[in-house]
Amino acid sequence: MTIPRHNDINASPVWAKLHQHQRATRHMHMRELFDTDPRRFDKFSLEFDGLLLDYSKNRLTERTLSLLFELAEAADLTGWMDRMRSGERINISENRSVLHTALRLPESASLMVDGRNVVPEVHAVLRAMKQFTDTVRAGAWHGIDGRPVTDVVNLGIGGSDLGPQVVTEALAPYATPDLRIHFVSNVDGQDIARTLARLQPETTLFIVASKSFTTPETLLNAEAAKKWFVKRTGQGDIRRHFVAVSANPEAVEAFGIDPANRFTFWDWVGGRYSVWSAIGLPVMMAVGYERFCQLLDGAHTMDNHFFGASFTRNMPVILALIGVWYNTFYGAHTHAIMPYDHGLRRLPAHIQQLDMESNGKRVGRHGERLDFDTGPVIWGEEGVNSQHAFFQLLHQGTRLVPCDFIVPMNTHYPVDHQHAVLVANCFAQSEALMRGKGEAEVLAELAHLTGDELDMLLPQKLFPGNQPSNTLALDRVTPRTLGMLLALYEHRVFVQGVIWGINSFDQWGVEYGKQLARRILPELKAPDQALAHDSSTNGLIRHFRRQYHA
Ligand code: F6P
Repeated sequence: MTIPRHNDINASPVWAKLHQHQRATRHMHMRELFDTDPRRFDKFSLEFDGLLLDYSKNRLTERTLSLLFELAEAADLTGWMDRMRSGERINISENRSVLHTALRLPESASLMVDGRNVVPEVHAVLRAMKQFTDTVRAGAWHGIDGRPVTDVVNLGIGGSDLGPQVVTEALAPYATPDLRIHFVSNVDGQDIARTLARLQPETTLFIVASKSFTTPETLLNAEAAKKWFVKRTGQGDIRRHFVAVSANPEAVEAFGIDPANRFTFWDWVGGRYSVWSAIGLPVMMAVGYERFCQLLDGAHTMDNHFFGASFTRNMPVILALIGVWYNTFYGAHTHAIMPYDHGLRRLPAHIQQLDMESNGKRVGRHGERLDFDTGPVIWGEEGVNSQHAFFQLLHQGTRLVPCDFIVPMNTHYPVDHQHAVLVANCFAQSEALMRGKGEAEVLAELAHLTGDELDMLLPQKLFPGNQPSNTLALDRVTPRTLGMLLALYEHRVFVQGVIWGINSFDQWGVEYGKQLARRILPELKAPDQALAHDSSTNGLIRHFRRQYHA
């Protein structure tokens, strides 16, 4: 197979048809669609392996969907799915395959990449992770004074932090109570300092998680942890207390970590897709090997669904196309993710990196300028709390903000009837956003008012509605359902990248700021060094020089 040169999706006839369809239907209100079709939920919802996707509260009809499926065909989505799955080097700017799906293949499977079956390597690393985490979890990994590990600190950033963090938090009900897992990512010293202040070096294990082992934030935190350890224990040998997850063996060894305690992964695993690899070590440490395998199995189940189901019954494809509908054809700039589950509160941050680092691109795979909007701003917060924060704008502001509501039907923490209250809030929000509240309803509520007071209050109490949302209902947050959910979003991002014709797997945009920071750092420290930036940056540097007390 070869990578097609140009997508030209915006020149395809279906692109024009979708624009035309949007113009023709943009005044349609979802309230009327529901009122005129009692079967709307049945038509526009999909259940797969215990996961329900309700996409009926969207500004779409059967015609919209059929055009969107046509768009997917025009973008050769099936071809791209095959290319990704088979290990073709679809990340062309880095000449890499994209094979996070291989990380969740069962041991019996086989996937040949460059003449090698990668599945045995994947499972060899899983076994090494099992052996290590079993030992630590059993209290049989002894620190320098012979005591077992009580605290594990993951030092990583971006994909080497967010994925494992959200999964560890979400699966807290499955975690061993004997280990506390901490995540330190920020180069702001307060992150590592506040964490270390709670720990004893003799019972702490650090995981330095960095694919490249060159990321300054992670290496600075790792050096700070090493200094703290050496100073507090008087021991220069860090090998019982530091392990690494990295694809850079030389740098790991140079840091002082025993090569036997480096867990590897491959260049075909992108950072934001790496929780399934050894980057998931803190997750396995918390919940154990079996549960980690259930997480992988959930993701693999979603992979099979994605690669196997027809577009019309395919959850990631449908979610992705609905996103494209708003983003490209309605001009919506953002997309909100609202988990109604306290354990999933970091999920919006993970999806934010996954989506924005993947699809925040202005050029196509071959460098061609794209004449349409690509990835939206992804944002969000845990449900209920956000109702008391930003939902006002969703209900009565001026912007179109498509939302995803994610809610488990059952909880690990039954406290009176609080779970039902949580779910009621979730369902009520999507209903209110869809229906709105019209003049007749508000007038009935304000029947006791007349004149100026009524004129003043009436418009303020109206809700336009017609704000779209998807609801994803899980049975319960388990390793398996969480695996399905995360893989669903990964594929959603991939499908959108295919439609827009972009390479979702590189991230050149994060490099420039890093380069400038390297230039500015010595300038901050050298008060007499001449500055040649713009006047704003020069002014800020001089301000720091005056204010900073080392
Ligand atoms: O932010 C850029 C990025 O490259 C992410 O894609 C990645 O997850 C993160 O930095 C961390 O990289 P590494 O694991 O190499 O330290």
